[in-house]
Amino acid sequence: MLLSMTTAMAAHGSVTKTTFGTTPDGTAVDLYTLKSEGIEASVMTYGARVVSIKTADRDGKMSNVVLGYSALDGYLADKSTYFGAIVGRYGNRIAFGKFSLDGKQYQIPTNDHANSLHGGTVGFDRMVWQGRAIADGVEMTLVSKDGDQGFPGTLTVHVRYTVHHGALRIDYVSSTDKDTVVNLTNHSYFNLAGDGQGTILHDELMLPADQYTPVDSGLIPTGVLAPVEGTPFDFRKATVIGARIDEPNEQLKLAGGYDHNWVLRGKNGEVKTAARVYDPLSGRVLTVTTTEPGVQFYTGNFLTGAKYGTAQEGHEKHAGFCLETQHFPDSPNHPAFPTTELKPGETRHSTTTFTFSTQAK
Ligand code: BGC
Repeated sequence: MLLSMTTAMAAHGSVTKTTFGTTPDGTAVDLYTLKSEGIEASVMTYGARVVSIKTADRDGKMSNVVLGYSALDGYLADKSTYFGAIVGRYGNRIAFGKFSLDGKQYQIPTNDHANSLHGGTVGFDRMVWQGRAIADGVEMTLVSKDGDQGFPGTLTVHVRYTVHHGALRIDYVSSTDKDTVVNLTNHSYFNLAGDGQGTILHDELMLPADQYTPVDSGLIPTGVLAPVEGTPFDFRKATVIGARIDEPNEQLKLAGGYDHNWVLRGKNGEVKTAARVYDPLSGRVLTVTTTEPGVQFYTGNFLTGAKYGTAQEGHEKHAGFCLETQHFPDSPNHPAFPTTELKPGETRHSTTTFTFSTQAK
């Protein structure tokens, strides 16, 4: 890794740009390292991906708490996990890759059995974004052309990552020149004990939602908003993630664990708590707040331990969890869900913040 100069100095932190590698077509990939009190986060231009987040445990020891690879070739070879990526233009699933807008039918490539997942075969996670150092962070910009993966309209997306006192904040801003659909999220997998430190099944999750969206066998929402009451999906009181994951519950069986969207309380667009996770081993606590109406809680059910790239790092089943703040999956086909449509002249904003702290034993 080549060291370069510090490109921006903010009041409390610093932003440093280095080279992370080169894609097969010769495009340079940059890594921005953002430092503030109690946090050091690295984000690269390939997929606008979070590569590492270092935070202190209850004894003050700093470790990386997101899953990833030490070199770019790992990310290039791994086509299934979406480690750390911004997923889009439509994060999560669209049934059969089909939707209609203004009376016209659109077809997105189906890359997850019969359905489309995370924006099609070449989603935003596989594109090199334009990086720019800003105060306390980096702004990543991507212009997705009209017709990209079958979606209508040229979509311009700015994702700003900034660090402030133990927190990583992500601001998403998008605009279009034709009616389209947009659902952007970050796909980091967290392991609060540290990447490679076993599974996350012993962590305690609190997820303040009264309803979730049950799915069919293709993990597409049925359209029902089901109460969590009396089910393994009730995390309104902090509960160990693994405590009920193997219960004979049809929804858990379909997904091989948790891989569902919860309906957050409060209004779409207002900041609300999406989750709080406590890792008793390290004492680390992650609190997630968002303006989005939903969160996909995914327990890394499809991680296989496969090793990619020169460093040969593998990640076992349940080695990390994702908290993907988002609009609901398959919204373009569910008019009753909060809309993901974006029109020319409008700007879509959303904000998600991951705050790290510690808790005593
Ligand atoms: C989905 C999982 C999928 C994973 C890809 C998650 O957002 O909900 O079903 O396997 O992304 O790594």
